[in-house]
Formats: sequence, C-alpha cells, structure tokens
Amino acid sequence: DKSKPIEEKTPSEVSRRVKIGIYFATWWFLNVIFNIYNKKVLNAFPYPWLTSTLSLATGSLMMLISWITGVAETPKTDLQFWKTLFPVAVAHTIGHVAATVSMSKVAVSFTHIIKSGEPAFSVLVSRFLLGETFPPGVYMSLIPIIGGCALTALTELNFNMIGFMGAMISNLAFVFRNIFSKRGMKGKSVGGMNYYACLSMLSLLILTPFAIAMEGPQMWTAGWEKAISQIGTQFIWWMAAQSVFYHLYNQVSYMSLDQISPLTFSIGNTMKRISVIVSSIIIFRTPVQPINALGAAIAILGTFLYSQVLTWSLYELKKIVLTILMAI
Ligand code: 3PG
Repeated sequence: DKSKPIEEKTPSEVSRRVKIGIYFATWWFLNVIFNIYNKKVLNAFPYPWLTSTLSLATGSLMMLISWITGVAETPKTDLQFWKTLFPVAVAHTIGHVAATVSMSKVAVSFTHIIKSGEPAFSVLVSRFLLGETFPPGVYMSLIPIIGGCALTALTELNFNMIGFMGAMISNLAFVFRNIFSKRGMKGKSVGGMNYYACLSMLSLLILTPFAIAMEGPQMWTAGWEKAISQIGTQFIWWMAAQSVFYHLYNQVSYMSLDQISPLTFSIGNTMKRISVIVSSIIIFRTPVQPINALGAAIAILGTFLYSQVLTWSLYELKKIVLTILMAI
C-alpha cells in the first residue's frame, strides 16, 4: 500500500515488497533474454505470426507437463472462468502478435521506446472508457511520455509504419489485458502462474487459425529451410530460447500482477524497458542519434514522474488534509 508512510509499514508489508522486488528483477532479466533471442530469430526468419504462435504453444506445453507431473497444481476452473478469460486472451493475443510484428520490422529498442508509452494508454482508457479521474499531475506527466515517444518516432533512422503501429496497437491491447486480467484474478482460486497458463492456452487457440491465414505452412517451410541453411542447427536453439523465455517472463510477470495493481504493473513494465532498450542497442549495435536517445529518455522520465505523481498525490493529499484539520 503506497499511501502508507514508511514508519507504518509492518514486517509483512516489507517482506511482500521484497518478494515483489525479486519478481520484478527476475521478470526483467528473463525479458531481456527473450528480446535478444526473439530478434535473432526474426532477423533470420521474418515470420512473426508463427514465432508468436510457437511461444504460446511452448508455454502451454510446459504448463500441461507441469500439471501432469504434479510440478504445478492443476487449477480448478469452470465454464465461467474460461468465459471471463476470453476477452483477456483476445487482448493478449493481439498485444503479443502486434509487438512481434513490430519487432520484425524495426529495432527492438524502437519497439520498446514506443511501448514505454503504455501508461499513457492506461490513463486514457481509464479516463475515457472507464470514467476514472486522476490528479492533474498525472495528466501533466503524459506530456513527456507522449512527447518523448513522438520525438523518438520522428527521429528514428529506420522508421517503419508497421513497426510503429504494431507497438501502438500492442500498448492499447495490453492495457485492456491488464485491466481485464486483474478483474478476472480478483477473488479467484486460480493464482498468477496458472492464470497465465490458461491464458496462453486460450490465446494459442485464438491465434493459430490467424497465423495460418496470415503466413501459412508454405512460407514457413521455405523460411525455415533458408534460416537453417544460413545459421545452422543453432537456429533451432534460438527458436526454443525465445519461446521458453517468453513463457517464463510472462509467468513471472503474472505472479507479480497477482500482488500489485494494474497501474504498478504498467510502471514496472516500463522500467523493464530501460534494460531491454540498453541491452538490445549494445547487442545489435543499433545506430542511435543523440536526439533519438533524448526522446527515449524523456518518455521514460515521464513514466517515472507519472508513478511518482500517483504516489505523491495520495501521500500529500492526506498530509495536507491532516495539517489543515490540525490547524483548525
Ligand atoms: C510480446 O511479444 O508479447 C511482446 O514482446 C511483449 O511485450 P511486453 O514487453 O509488453 O511484455
């Protein structure tokens, strides 16, 4: 509970925060690995619909095996659970494919800079579709987020409209996914890990026919043969790594979503992008102009301010009201 002053925090709250901290660090680390292998695969095999499907299929398989072998407890679900999960799965599928299509067209760092604008989408969706209002500081913090993303997009050396739109669509889809997920997980016996497992399975069912329609076995076979002839059997390991790490980082992120609000989740996700952006620029030797990097820094700073404004306003509001009451 961010609104409590430090001195009021109980040991259980401290250990909860430590636990969330460990989840966050693991989530970010796994995500960096996923992004590197995902881009290596896409560079050699530009079929994002298939790679997205394979990552969901691998996660689904891993969880099925965990349930069968008793490594993870099989969740008790009913028809209502799957019905509530459906809109989440649609949003997850769209967000996943859109981000992967984006990364197949532009640098990983560019996709993630645009994806750092997710809190702006979160505020706009909450404001205009859910009727939630925020303190003025929150709206002000959207200016650097949107401005920074716009500056990066305008100065990106290898700008590509599909790459840009994919990241934007992914932002919108994931805001809905997080809102619906949190609602779906509330008061349910299915915890974060199994919730994400069910989500992967349903998303896989939704995505498979679209992947076949968009790309299809003919393209995949030709692309696969070309990738193997250029890279060798190592390519299979890259594919396996991107799929396994995709599942692992999402699973850990859902285990943290179980403990935090969708808003804190969005902030953690944006902070995660700093490590992805920096590591991918180093590994893929992405050319970056100073003005382009400035845009990214402004956008990320905006997200940080946004999280501070939210925390600060709750603290300060309480303090101001108490001070006035005591003065009276
Ligand atoms: C995906 O493929 O789903 C995206 O790379 C994920 O984006 P995220 O960093 O928001 O999880």
